[in-house]
Amino acid sequence: MLLPVGWGMFRAMARIFSGIQPSGELHIGNWLGAVQRWVELQRTHECLYCIVDLHAITGAGYEPSRLAERTREMAVGLLASGIDPDRVTLFVQSHVPAHSELMWLLNVVTPLGELERMTQFKDKSQELESIPAGLLNYPILMAADILLYRAEQVPVGDDQIQHLELAREIARRWNAQFSDGFFPEPQPIIGEARRIVGLDGDAKMSKSRGNTIGILDSPEEIWQKLRPARTDPARVKRTDPGTPEICNIYHLHRYFSPLDTVTLVAENCRGAKWGCLDCKRVLADNMARTLAPIRERAAELAATPRLVDEVLGDGAARARRLAGETLAGVRDHMGFYGHGD
Ligand code: TRP
Repeated sequence: MLLPVGWGMFRAMARIFSGIQPSGELHIGNWLGAVQRWVELQRTHECLYCIVDLHAITGAGYEPSRLAERTREMAVGLLASGIDPDRVTLFVQSHVPAHSELMWLLNVVTPLGELERMTQFKDKSQELESIPAGLLNYPILMAADILLYRAEQVPVGDDQIQHLELAREIARRWNAQFSDGFFPEPQPIIGEARRIVGLDGDAKMSKSRGNTIGILDSPEEIWQKLRPARTDPARVKRTDPGTPEICNIYHLHRYFSPLDTVTLVAENCRGAKWGCLDCKRVLADNMARTLAPIRERAAELAATPRLVDEVLGDGAARARRLAGETLAGVRDHMGFYGHGD
């Protein structure tokens, strides 16, 4: 029996924490890469899934007037994709102030050199004239997210593995200084690498690059975006044979089309029996069909914002309870007056 009858029952399953930035609507890149894995894990693990709005304010795309809306849209996307609030704790990071507090406490055991070494920090700070400390300290907040729930496992994409290693280092240092074994060292869950390339064929699919298809896009929008998407450059004319393995459209077929269609696509590409547009038309139809039930659920949820608020409210209440227990222990071990004895 896996239903969350009480917190005691959950502990038999390993605890997982993961976070996603409120970039607004989910696109097929994060849906195939992260969200489907989250949905699978909720059957076998005790999962806490967090929309990390405190992280989002360090990013270049941060607009105060849109943060709330994007956070709600992300919640709708996750719920429509099958995240089940009866099985998992789904919540918004800023609704649990303990994340910020633990981050401050972990600051004192975090080596500055490690923060400066982070690839993401180096990449992002390079483009800026003045570097906010928040960009540097981003991984400490991420460590706080995970350690606050003493999560044992963390599903992450490859771009976050370095941050997770630092979280382990922070846990080790805190444990060594204050209380041996208090924080488990969180292990990454690295599933099948599904790095979805954007429609430009150049880089990872990401909202900031504008090379995405949203999971809530209409069939017409999907077609309009796929139509100009990059294919095998060797196929200039319809009669030029192609190499499916190097074509992003072929790779997308593998996620959205039935197996026999995938085989047919490869044959017709190699033999120049189909033009790239024919191939895209079939993909657009299959993609629209796959995403249709998600769009329907999302439309229902968008029409009942109170329901979404209720789910996030319940999630935050549960998260606050768990976080409060950890934080009480942390304050106690760190020796603060008026905490513990
Ligand atoms: N930094 C992660 C990202 O950009 C999101 C994140 C925040 C996260 N806190 C986390 C992921 C804790 C895993 C665990 O993708």
